[in-house]
Amino acid sequence: MDKIQVVGGKELRGRVEISGAKNAALPAMAAALLTPETVRLENIPYVRDILTTRALLEYMGVDAKVSKDGAGTFKAADIEALEAPYELVRTMRASILVLGPMLARFKRARVSLPGGCAIGARPINLHLQGLEKMGAKCDVSHGYVEAYTTGLQGACIRFETVTVTGTENLMMAAVLADGETILDNAACEPEVENLADMLRAMGAEIEGDGTCLIRIRGVKELKGCLHRIIPDRIEAGTFAIAAAITRGDVEIAECNPGHLTAVLNQLSLVGAEITLGETGFRVRGHTGISSKNLTTHPYPAFPTDMQAQYMALMTQGDGTSVITETIFENRFMHALELVRMGADIKMEGRQAAVCGGRLLTGANVQASDLRASASLILAGLAAEGETIIDRVYHLDRGYARIEEKMAGIGAEIKRIS
Ligand code: EPU
Repeated sequence: MDKIQVVGGKELRGRVEISGAKNAALPAMAAALLTPETVRLENIPYVRDILTTRALLEYMGVDAKVSKDGAGTFKAADIEALEAPYELVRTMRASILVLGPMLARFKRARVSLPGGCAIGARPINLHLQGLEKMGAKCDVSHGYVEAYTTGLQGACIRFETVTVTGTENLMMAAVLADGETILDNAACEPEVENLADMLRAMGAEIEGDGTCLIRIRGVKELKGCLHRIIPDRIEAGTFAIAAAITRGDVEIAECNPGHLTAVLNQLSLVGAEITLGETGFRVRGHTGISSKNLTTHPYPAFPTDMQAQYMALMTQGDGTSVITETIFENRFMHALELVRMGADIKMEGRQAAVCGGRLLTGANVQASDLRASASLILAGLAAEGETIIDRVYHLDRGYARIEEKMAGIGAEIKRIS
């Protein structure tokens, strides 16, 4: 199994290009199920979750191709299996995204329940309740959701909690439903807007994406399209923290700074100097790092997917900061590993108090999930000596060539097989 070795103490300098967003590419690939015509996607990040989704689509009978340069073509003309099996869903919860499109186009679907993961229980009750409101019957037995419908109907659905993939799943179900669907308290994440753009290019009628009220008028059929995946705001934010934590100077290119407002505001607050451009930004971390409290919330607030990386930064702050995680109930697994590197972090429920100013020392640590892995790399960059991060398959699920990109801006980092 691969590991990542980081030797800390280098200031990062230079330019790094951001890849396409995994969390925008996954629903876009699922949306290809909505039409028998060819869907072409650009800027797909070449990461494990994308390959798992390609395998899932191929299993279902989709002619699915993804190349390393980010181009993908998907043709769901001859669907053989209306099923997402446990073996594939277990490794990637986002497989649930095939449920909405399959029900909308084929009126039937069998999808394995994703189950919990390292960051929390992550139920799918809101996906199922929404589909039932649209006239689907969803039975859960033997670890599978068996869903069928005589035809989805538009409905008014209010989410009791903001859910990103829940919003995407119901949006994909509603585009082929009979009549109008309103999604209230919908997720406003840029990935949801990017999916709406794609669905519109396929002929769907959607308004209000990017706000908490999305209106969808169902159409009879959708056509193929050419669609570009937005840049990965979490990858961009991770590199921004890499610059800040090493007191470096990095240009983060080929991204959309407008999607990172909360992250960049927080980094300015703690002392990083941020210069915004049209398609990128520059982070200079030449001053000390101030400790500032942080609470995660749905977009446009500070994302839960950047919380672990921010915690690594706060270990180098000048005081104590309290980090509150409101989205997932168990997303502090990285804290215990950071403590093994010398950090002073006390946790209680959904809060972690990080006492900064401790010298981090390189250690053998284990990644518990995707963003936790990134947090440990960041801590390794700031630590004295060598850090070895185990279980990097988590990292490979969502960061494209991270060690290559980090090395390109001066980090001493390599993959050990
Ligand atoms: N929730 C429910 N019931 C549901 C759905 C969600 O109670 O039916 C709860 C969850 O348990 C959680 C909250 O609602 O407490 C928000 O979860 P959400 O559904 O928004 O999460 P998700 O759609 O499963 C996506 C991203 C995650 C990201 C979250 C939050 C994808 C493929 N995944 O997950 O990304 O953390 O939104 O922004 O888009 C990552 O990339 O590392 C990652 C975990």
